[in-house]
Amino acid sequence: MIGERREEDTVAFEIEGGVAWVKFNRPEKRNCMSPKLNRQMGRVLDELEFRDDVGVLVLTGEGASWSAGMDLKEYFRETEARGLGATRQAQREAYGWWRRLRWFQKPTIAMVNGWCFGGGYGPLFGCDLAFADEAAQFGLSEINWGILPGGGASKVASELLPFRKAMYHALMGENIDGRTAAEWGLVNEALPAAQLKARVSEVAQVLLKKNPVALKATKDAIRRVREMTYDNAEDYLIRAQEAANSFDGEGRKEGIRQFIDDKTYKPGLGAYDKDRQAG
Ligand code: ACO
Repeated sequence: MIGERREEDTVAFEIEGGVAWVKFNRPEKRNCMSPKLNRQMGRVLDELEFRDDVGVLVLTGEGASWSAGMDLKEYFRETEARGLGATRQAQREAYGWWRRLRWFQKPTIAMVNGWCFGGGYGPLFGCDLAFADEAAQFGLSEINWGILPGGGASKVASELLPFRKAMYHALMGENIDGRTAAEWGLVNEALPAAQLKARVSEVAQVLLKKNPVALKATKDAIRRVREMTYDNAEDYLIRAQEAANSFDGEGRKEGIRQFIDDKTYKPGLGAYDKDRQAG
């Protein structure tokens, strides 16, 4: 590529049938995350989060990489050279959009099409679901160049992997492929590259049919209760559902009505028709 990619070109997205397909867009740098890319992702998430034509967000990478982690030159070396203030700002920009992703209003899916290293574990965990090319490569490569897995990567490994696997993964700096990542629980499923997009689209279509208020309440609940005692979780979930009720209008009542009165569906076998409300 001739010259430097402009900030607004570091992320690409298109919206298709209710799904926002968002791409890390620095394929020539294996989609590593520079301060520019991090700022642009923040803007893109802002733009997409509350749009009525977006019900699910998919995060994937342009080219052969999902994300090769943090940009060692622009995020680490150049930022550090500008001092502590610049370092903290770059951290805020990166961690900020990963946090936004963790609590995003719509369900999010990581479609890991290739390399996924280090800092990439932040957005990987930020996405609610993850599907990978079985040939994708995942690694905590920090140890290979002399740092600990920061930016949440150690936390992600500890959250998603059993202790021995997390420790081995972080200390050894060896990569695992998509299939192993699925066995270990880093992603939901691994598929041949040719089937990856179709499977992710299928999952997105299922999510699009669910009550959106219930989806947001559910994804938050699953993340929040991990750190709660049983009693605290029980209490949180009562309050979260009651808060959701005030946003949801008659949604859940319609769900009961279509099952009990209309007998048009069975909740054990699929979702109610949210576009048909009795009023
Ligand atoms: N930071 C900065 N530049 C990067 C990064 C990165 N993380 N990853 C790739 N690039 C650049 C390369 O320097 C190269 O730039 P150039 O064309 O100007 O020379 C370009 O992207 C292409 O990279 P290659 O290494 O030539 O691509 P290849 O396909 O052979 O290898 C691979 C891909 C394995 C991903 C390799 O680029 C790599 O090891 N990248 C670093 C991965 C990593 O350890 N990331 C940091 C994790 S730790 C953290 O995030 C905190």
